[in-house]
Amino acid sequence: MLRDRFGRSIDYLRLSVTDRCDLRCSYCIPKGFKNFEEPANWLDFAEIQRVVAAFARLGCHRFRLTGGEPLLRRNLPALVSRLASLPGVDDLSLSTNGTQLAGQAGALKAAGLQRLNVSLDSLRRDCVASISGSDSLEQVLQGLSVARAAGFSSIKINMVPLAGINDRDIDAMLAYCKAHGFILRLIEAMPMGHTGQQADGLDLSQLLHSLSQRHGLTPSAVSLGGGPARYWQSPDGSCTLGLITPMSQHFCASCNRVRLSVDGTLYMCLGQEEKLALRPLLRAGCSDAELEAAIRAAIELKPEKHEFIQQPQQVVRFMSMTGG
Ligand code: GTP
Ligand code: 5AD
Ligand code: SF4
Repeated sequence: MLRDRFGRSIDYLRLSVTDRCDLRCSYCIPKGFKNFEEPANWLDFAEIQRVVAAFARLGCHRFRLTGGEPLLRRNLPALVSRLASLPGVDDLSLSTNGTQLAGQAGALKAAGLQRLNVSLDSLRRDCVASISGSDSLEQVLQGLSVARAAGFSSIKINMVPLAGINDRDIDAMLAYCKAHGFILRLIEAMPMGHTGQQADGLDLSQLLHSLSQRHGLTPSAVSLGGGPARYWQSPDGSCTLGLITPMSQHFCASCNRVRLSVDGTLYMCLGQEEKLALRPLLRAGCSDAELEAAIRAAIELKPEKHEFIQQPQQVVRFMSMTGG
């Protein structure tokens, strides 16, 4: 069992398999950003597998592949298949922007991927294009439908509501998710790096009352993964809404995760700088025991909480660098 200085059990590792993305969502990567990691510095599949196996031996059992856009990493289903077969990997999931999902959902399912979260900020084509910098709505909708047909159930849709941009789309998104059996999750935008649009994030706690009244939703204790979302449901269970509120009601006291970036750096918090580079160790031929000791030492560095509100300009990493 991995436990940090504040008594939190760390059972969820998020792995970014690339820092690149085919979109440029305003809250995530700044337009024109070019400072991507060199391929020589990317952990290869064998190195990623070693790190995951070490975490699993230490009692971590949830693993999520992220990016950037993880489906841009070549042969991702082969990595999924390596990880899915490791002892102790009980929950293997992926967060994607959905643009490449139609072509890959079947292979990912066959490789052993269990759960899927897909980002989508609106059902209006021009709105998606203006937030993500690309006319990608149709591709994402197609990806969602192929993924469902491939056997993924309880797919979650992540929406970041931005004031005056897509906040009026929440009801339509909820209706769409209800009709297709998806779970809508609203996420408060966090000030990650200087993406230039950070003031637009909504305080979801303020929206909750009217939203739950309009849709007949009540708080639910349903457990739908290992993340920080809190859920509301309709009485017949046909409509589920999740809220992720890092700004208005942060969940750091129950944080259960750390993140591995594409270059093999273990980040202890989305909004803080504490980290430990595992790549040099791996490439120096460390033993399994040395790797496990390094992971334990890194967990000791995990800070108590993020400081997005007190020091919004502090974090220099964009979301795409650490993996959301
Ligand atoms: P489930 O296991 O399905 O609940 O997944 P998840 O919610 O952990 O994964 P997902 O990649 O869909 O994460 C959704 C978003 O929640 C992330 O992109 C972040 O914006 C936010 N989030 C997740 N974990 C943290 C965290 O530790 N700290 C903060 N501040 N935000 C987080
Ligand atoms: N704040 C909140 N969520 C973000 N995401 C990306 N950048 C931010 C940010 N600055 C979300 C995306 C995606 C998930 C992986 O991360 O919407 O759903
Ligand atoms: Fe790409 Fe996801 Fe970031 Fe959008 S949120 S730019 S889809 S990594």
